[in-house]
Amino acid sequence: MFSDKDRAHFSKLETPFYYYDLNLLKSTLEACHKAASAYKFHVHYAMKANFNPIVLKEIEKIGFGADCVSGNEVKKAIEIGFAKNKVVFAGVGKSDKEINDALDNDIFCFNVESVQELSVINELAEKKQKIAKVAIRINPNVDAHTHANITTGLDENKFGVNSWDMPACADVLNISANLEFIGVHFHIGSQITNMEVYKNLCIRVNEFATWFEDHGFKVTVLNVGGGLGIDYHKPDQQIPDFETYFKIFADFLEVKPYQEVHFELGRALVGQSASLISRVLYVKNGKKKNFIILDAGMTELMRPALYQAYHQIENISKPLSVDSSQTSNPVKYDVVGPICESTDCFGKEVQLPETFRNDLIAIRSTGAYGEVMASHYNLRETVQVVSSEDI
Ligand code: LLP
Repeated sequence: MFSDKDRAHFSKLETPFYYYDLNLLKSTLEACHKAASAYKFHVHYAMKANFNPIVLKEIEKIGFGADCVSGNEVKKAIEIGFAKNKVVFAGVGKSDKEINDALDNDIFCFNVESVQELSVINELAEKKQKIAKVAIRINPNVDAHTHANITTGLDENKFGVNSWDMPACADVLNISANLEFIGVHFHIGSQITNMEVYKNLCIRVNEFATWFEDHGFKVTVLNVGGGLGIDYHKPDQQIPDFETYFKIFADFLEVKPYQEVHFELGRALVGQSASLISRVLYVKNGKKKNFIILDAGMTELMRPALYQAYHQIENISKPLSVDSSQTSNPVKYDVVGPICESTDCFGKEVQLPETFRNDLIAIRSTGAYGEVMASHYNLRETVQVVSSEDI
């Protein structure tokens, strides 16, 4: 929901741009921090969801760690001020350079995704005479019941070590003097809204942690990853239910007194805090279809083209007093971008008030995997950013 003041301000700006609502971001972070603290859970922010420094600084301030999936993310997290001993590093394809840099930075933990990677980290750590802390990322074969393209915890996915490779992992750990095993790591997918899925995950976490302990390894870290979804249909009902989410883990994980529970939340922390604001370039009224052509496209927001993702679309040129849903003449439009691809479409048959050239359109809930997945395809400009503090 944008105030008349926001709308008036937006109308003076060049489009397209991402608008970040830092007050909402702060409230979301506080809600998560409070809910996690009740159980002494540790939260690492999954930087891949949004690495804009204005977002990262707020997250660092609240005291969360950073979950990184590339050497550059590790570097950026440390530059922003995240404590090195709260940085975790996952990824199926860590290069030698990335591993070496992370070793130099003495990060908290490598989330290791294959038996071979364990040996490589051991070798590189040995050369530096360091001990690398490692958690084994296990593929638990739990269905996340989310979009196939963002499911990561099934046997057919490339992520993590499969259950049948556990003995091989244990063998490598036993002979690797430069590795310190600290625990187990999981991440089964993203935009998970079915809480049953997390119960199933807890059962598998308990099984794997027990397996390691039975084989002589002390498991101090249970890292259950991220994945908590947001409601893309209710962008104004903005703060996810962190309490229910954490309670599931508190209820179903078997946590020993010496064990810590870690999370890697991305989308749930930042998703509702941004909108992509765009201007209507053209309106084409056809016999079968009406099109609104925006100045933002899949180059600014890739999710609809890549995952058929839904984002609420609103015409915000009308003042608040003229509520769009109450307008007398709604029209159905396909809302598309200017890119030379048919998949460059933000929504089909979207009901909006009658819309005109130069109207402003807000594409909501774009704080996660929005700006960071933008591209320069068609030699497009870098997308601009505006924050609530600029207004
Ligand atoms: N941990 C690991 C190891 C991950 O791979 C991810 C996300 C997360 C944590 C954070 O997941 P979240 O809490 O944000 O669901 N681009 C896609 C989402 C890809 C997620 C990749 N991994 C999208 O736009 O939906």
